[in-house]
Amino acid sequence: MWIFLFVSFLEMVSGADWCYQSQVSCNSSCSGPDEWGVIFPQCGGRSQSPVNIVTGNVVADQRLTPLHLVGYQGAFQGNLSNNGHTAQMDLPAGMQIKGGNLPGTYKALQLHFHWGGDGGPGSEHTIDGERYPMEMHLVHIKEQYSSLSRAVSEPAGVAVLGFFFQESNSANKKFDALIKALRRIPRPSNKTTVRGISLQMFLPAPADMSRYFRYDGSLTTPDCAQAVVWTLFEKAVPLSRQQLSAFSQLAFSSGRPMVNTFRPVQPRNGRRVSRSGGPAAASPGPALGLLLLPLLLLLH
Ligand SMILES: *[C@@H]1O[C@H](CO)[C@@H](O)[C@H](O)[C@H]1NC(C)=O
Ligand SMILES: *[C@@H]1O[C@H](CO)[C@@H](O)[C@H](O)[C@H]1NC(C)=O
Ligand SMILES: *[C@@H]1O[C@H](CO)[C@@H](O)[C@H](O)[C@H]1NC(C)=O
Ligand SMILES: [Zn+2]
Repeated sequence: MWIFLFVSFLEMVSGADWCYQSQVSCNSSCSGPDEWGVIFPQCGGRSQSPVNIVTGNVVADQRLTPLHLVGYQGAFQGNLSNNGHTAQMDLPAGMQIKGGNLPGTYKALQLHFHWGGDGGPGSEHTIDGERYPMEMHLVHIKEQYSSLSRAVSEPAGVAVLGFFFQESNSANKKFDALIKALRRIPRPSNKTTVRGISLQMFLPAPADMSRYFRYDGSLTTPDCAQAVVWTLFEKAVPLSRQQLSAFSQLAFSSGRPMVNTFRPVQPRNGRRVSRSGGPAAASPGPALGLLLLPLLLLLH
């Protein structure tokens, strides 16, 4: 009986597409995050993403020096599409990352976003339980591979840079072209071209990019391959409420607003989360206290 039920459940879900939790309530024929692991076994693995980062438990690592971003300043035109799950921009060749203790040189493939509803909580990773309104993923693969599906054959074949967004009072003009283009891709499979942009425009100032978290995890959408070196930058990118809300104008295939496009956080299962900056850079620590002690005694 139970086996029969399980088999019919498998038959039911294997014919369906995966979807986010926000889509399950109005469409029982798609598989939400709780069922991903049934159809895509890696989604049930022990090194899944996203995770909640507990800043009190991260370990400072002085090998996590600033990343070298190659070709990030160059202007390009990117194809932006609504792929039914997110807004994704495919990137031309010529953008790479290395350094920061990454095990190789990685080339950029695409960027995409995860967001909430009308600027509400929507990031995938959370910091001490806080969910930011949006998270951008810059997906890179090791330079010798020709596609994401080949790169995931190696445990560190993929490197994703994650950027959080926070609400600001004024609009971030650097996002104008991309956000305007969202109007041209309301429905899945709509595509448009965005011109005159560079990756650097979408990132925090270079001086703000030396602080980041690092851990080993997975893709956050099926098949959830456990092949990703994650780098999550502490400094959030500002966008106005109106700019954040613009992402919610997109629609899923059902025609309903594309909102809450994030996977729930996954168990860390003993994985280490590191943070850039050696012990000396992490905090003033006892050395500074010792220097200040005579001064305090004098004042007393
Ligand atoms: C964008 O699409 C055009 C037409 O399909 C294609 O020729 C071009 O290579 C694409 N550019 C990128 C960066 O994917
Ligand atoms: C967007 O895609 C829908 C089908 O999903 C199509 O009917 C519509 O014409 C497309 N719109 C544009 C602007 O390409
Ligand atoms: C339900 O989800 C399936 C799979 O994602 C999709 O093909 C179908 O169009 C959806 N139907 C509705 C009414 O949303
Ligand atoms: Zn993502």
